[in-house]
Parts: sequence; C-alpha cells; structure tokens
Amino acid sequence: MSLLRQPLLLLARSEKVKKLVSTMPVSAGIVNSYVPGETTAAATEATARLVDDGLLVTLDFLGEDTLDVAQADATVAAYLDVLQELASRGLARSAEVSVKLSAIGQALPDSVAGGGHKIALENARTICRAARNAGTTVTLDMEDHTTTDSTLAILRELRKDFPETGAVLQAYLHRTEADCRTLAYEGSRVRLCKGAYKEPETVAFQDRLDVDKSYVRCLKVLLAGQGYPMIATHDPRMVEIASSLASRYGRAQGTYEFQMLYGIRPDEQQRLAASGETVRVYIPYGTEWYGYLMRRLAERPQNLSFFAKSLISKK
Ligand code: FDA
Repeated sequence: MSLLRQPLLLLARSEKVKKLVSTMPVSAGIVNSYVPGETTAAATEATARLVDDGLLVTLDFLGEDTLDVAQADATVAAYLDVLQELASRGLARSAEVSVKLSAIGQALPDSVAGGGHKIALENARTICRAARNAGTTVTLDMEDHTTTDSTLAILRELRKDFPETGAVLQAYLHRTEADCRTLAYEGSRVRLCKGAYKEPETVAFQDRLDVDKSYVRCLKVLLAGQGYPMIATHDPRMVEIASSLASRYGRAQGTYEFQMLYGIRPDEQQRLAASGETVRVYIPYGTEWYGYLMRRLAERPQNLSFFAKSLISKK
C-alpha cells in the first residue's frame, strides 16, 4: 500500500482539515472532477449525459456516520427525491441508487429509537420501496469492517421483500471470499471492490498484491456462481482478468457488469461499453463530499498537488 494512503485516511477523520477543505465550493477543480454537483438536478443532469453516452449509472447521495435522526431522515428524503426525478425523466431503467447505511442511521446508539441497526433497516426499506416504484434498484455500499455483519444482516432482511437489492463486498477483507460464496446465488447482485477504508491487519490484507490476489479469487467465485457480479474497479489488470474469467465460465456479456467511479478513467468506461460490455458509473453528489474525496485522494496521491493548488486558489 502507498506510504501516503494511511496518513490521508487519518486526515479524512480530522475535523480541522475537514473544516478547511469543506469551505471550498464544489466547483473547485479536484472536487468537481469526482463529484458533479450538490443537488438532485446536478446529479440527474450528469446521469442523463452518461446515459446518452451508452453508460448506466448508480447515484450516491453523499453522507456517512450520521449521529442525528433528522440528518438520517433528510438523507432518506434526498433519495426519494432523486428516485422520483429519475422516474419522471425516464432514467430509472438506466440508473439505480447506492446507499451507505451509516448515512441513514446505522451508527446511531442503541438508546435511540430501537438502535442504529433497526433504524437503518427501516430507512433502507423506505428507499427500496421507492426504488421499486420508480422501476429501479438499490445497492448497499460497504463501509468499515465494524459494520459488515450489520450491513449483510440488513441485506438479508431487505431481500425478503426486495430480492433485487444488491450489496458491496471488499476484497481487502480476509472474510470476503467466504462472503462471496454465500452471496453467489441466483438473483443476487454483488458489487466487488478492493476496499477503501483504513483497516487493521487482523481483518484486512495490507499489501496491494495480496488485495489483488483476493480480488481475483472473489471474481472466480462470483463469475462461476449464479448471481449477477458487478465488477467495480479501475485497475486495468483486474478488468482484463475479469474479462477472461467471464469467457472461461461461459458468461455472456450482460450477465455481469463493470463499474467505475465518476471521473475516473472515463475513456476506459467508453471503451468497455463500445466493446459490448455493460458499464455503470457511480455518481456521488451532495454537499457532504469530504470523506469521499479523501478516500479518492488516498488512492491516488499524484492528485495531491492538484488538490493543494485548488485549496490555495479557493475559487
Ligand atoms: P487501484 O486503486 O489499484 O487503481 C487502479 C488504477 O485505477 C490506478 O492505477 C489508476 O489508473 C486508476 N485510479 C484508481 N483510483 C483513482 C483515482 N482516485 N483517481 C484517478 N485514477 C484512479 N469501496 C468501499 O470500501 N466500499 C464501497 O462500497 C465502495 N463502492 C465502490 C463502488 C464502485 C462502483 C467503485 C468503482 C468503487 C467502490 N469503492 C468502494 C472503492 C474501491 O474500494 C477502491 O477504493 C477504488 O475503486 C480504487 O481501487 P481500484 O480497484 O480502482 O484499483
């Protein structure tokens, strides 16, 4: 792992740095390259542009670690708003939503209204219902390892009523190959990513090569299984390996999909789509872009000088 990655992920938790960085308007260079805007309108505009280019979309209303019921409710309302907008603009078949459970109450203490797990489940149910009515689906993002069990338990509950609900698994966790086996059944939608949080070595591979090897083992399980794998990576090697594994396991294009983040390797997104692959772009939007931005910078420290310049100019 890069030497800069760990300190940057620590910085992501610093309130002082957060305050400084968050005073930048979203239009400031680097933020804008990862987040198309702060409003439902900006998110649906970006969706329409990508759909016009033959890509699919998943929308993430930014926010995490909410410790406030009103804030969790506001996040649910934002999802309902964007789902309605997608439906009314005829975009719901091409765009789904991604939800971080900590943004809708998972981190709330047990003393509040039945506890975070229960609140997040009920809020997620509300979003799943709205997504179903709009004609689309929900995928649960995966956050740090302390939330994995709760998130997978919520997924199981949601899938009883909304079997189309998907979830993310992170290849850097030791447990993930086993989780892939559990979730590789028919109808199951699993988004496989490498993992973006700072995790201890007791639970996660630390070495980049070990993470990649785990990613390939997980790909094999998912592509050989009966579910719908969503291959979320920008890594050219992982994309190549996924394509050859898909042919080895007799998977036709469209029985799995590639996914990349908004603004990262857009040419590769287009190239894959032009070759007949299904490609979905993850679009984060909203005012709470700080944690997301820090994780992206931690993955690509080359962006830091660009970032520093946009902080100084503060336009
Ligand atoms: P890797 O980091 O090895 O990058 C490979 C190459 O991609 C780089 O060499 C570079 O060319 C390019 N690249 C990567 N990051 C870049 C950047 N920031 N800017 C410019 N170029 C870059 N994580 C998580 O923990 N929970 C989650 O729920 C999700 N959800 C999710 C959804 C989707 C659709 C994607 C694509 C990713 C996630 N992630 C995530 C993030 C994921 O875990 C991981 O941190 C990033 O995708 C980076 O890992 P790569 O597989 O891209 O490889």
